[in-house]
Amino acid sequence: MPREEQLKSPPGAPIGVFDSGLGGLTVVRAIQRLMPGESIVYFGDTARVPYGNKSARTVQQFAWQCLNFLARSQPKLMVIACNTVSAIALEALVNAFPVPLIGVLEPGATAAVQAARARVPAGECSVGLIATEATVASRGYQMAIARLDRGVQVVARACPLLVPLIEEGRSSRSVVVRMVLEEYLEPLRQISPLALILGCTHYPIFSDVIADVMGGDTMLVDSATQTAHVVRSRLESLGLLSAGAAGKLSCYVTDQGQRFEMVASQFLGRPVGQPVWVDPESIERQALEIK
Ligand code: DGL
Repeated sequence: MPREEQLKSPPGAPIGVFDSGLGGLTVVRAIQRLMPGESIVYFGDTARVPYGNKSARTVQQFAWQCLNFLARSQPKLMVIACNTVSAIALEALVNAFPVPLIGVLEPGATAAVQAARARVPAGECSVGLIATEATVASRGYQMAIARLDRGVQVVARACPLLVPLIEEGRSSRSVVVRMVLEEYLEPLRQISPLALILGCTHYPIFSDVIADVMGGDTMLVDSATQTAHVVRSRLESLGLLSAGAAGKLSCYVTDQGQRFEMVASQFLGRPVGQPVWVDPESIERQALEIK
């Protein structure tokens, strides 16, 4: 029996959203826009972010520990908002929890193929991908796109400096951000892809300058909105959509740095209430006890 058939949580249970840090609040924002009645429990592993430059083994281990913690709030469904975790660990995690689990890669790949095919309905065409080093190296997006449409080629570029710049609070108006993007995007600009996947939770923050550097011919694809649609149709098909009017958001983080409020509100698009701090050692211990 698939693990999710063991699910017992009622429609009023929350949706769990997990990310390596606070960038996954872009996915929370998209879910809240589409389904304002849903309550959300968010877990950001802010003590150990970034995951994007870590080995696959470490990312899998951290992700397992964090989802194990999130599962304690008895969510009806969990979303892996982190592209790096979705690329590296989703398959293994889907079978480890008795809750439906949705990653951001398939939704992002679907949106990119749809955007490309809306403009070039048949034959060969290309889309671009920018993401963390780990996501690019995993070839997860490339494989997801090939499964959907073999005619769509992916040209990928890792952009490791973007996450630290955003976490530093640099805005898209910063000269440094523009310089870094001009260098990263140059090879992509040359092929002028039909669509560019923002394959990292953080990158939508820089979407205006990314669009400007790429020029008007490339459509930006952000997987958050498409993921929210996938969440809604999955809940619908399971008969688990909430009947409530206004859902709650509770945030858990493994490190509550001084910049929490500034960075979190940037991703969510509005102020975020105080998060609950969770000791990363305790989630490691709990995960060990279960294994
Ligand atoms: N959440 C990560 C992603 O979407 C970006 C931050 C990190 O490297 O952990 O890939």
